[in-house]
Amino acid sequence: MKLLFINGVNLDMTGVREKGVYGTQTLDEINAEIAAHFKSDECEFFQSDIEGEICDKLHKAKADGIILNAGAFTHYSYALRDAIAAITVPVVEVHMSNVHAREEFRHKSVISEVCKGVVCGFGKNSYILAGESFKL
Ligand code: DQA
Repeated sequence: MKLLFINGVNLDMTGVREKGVYGTQTLDEINAEIAAHFKSDECEFFQSDIEGEICDKLHKAKADGIILNAGAFTHYSYALRDAIAAITVPVVEVHMSNVHAREEFRHKSVISEVCKGVVCGFGKNSYILAGESFKL
């Protein structure tokens, strides 16, 4: 199975920013753990702070499933929403933090409706749980 993990804006700062919320591991370290977990599968990792680059990546995705942590784009990017709606590869929305236990603006996702499901609140394991969902 081919799994594509996409991280959006500011996720490259994981391990550096708000460590109490997102932990102390870098995104590269987290991705290495994800790759080890899914060692029998093909994993691709992509991160960008640029909305259009993520849309392009979604358009061109060749995968059985996409695990997407769009970061703050989640809460307002209709462009990302439309890009997800435009493709047939299923996308699972992921957040490391429990966005519903945080500020009001994080309670709204404009992408959830076009995603297969949502996993949030399990730290780095949110990515693994989302990836596992494609195997059910
Ligand atoms: C996040 C939650 C978002 O609200 C925030 O903007 C992020 C990270 C998470 O993984 O918990 O950048 O997607």
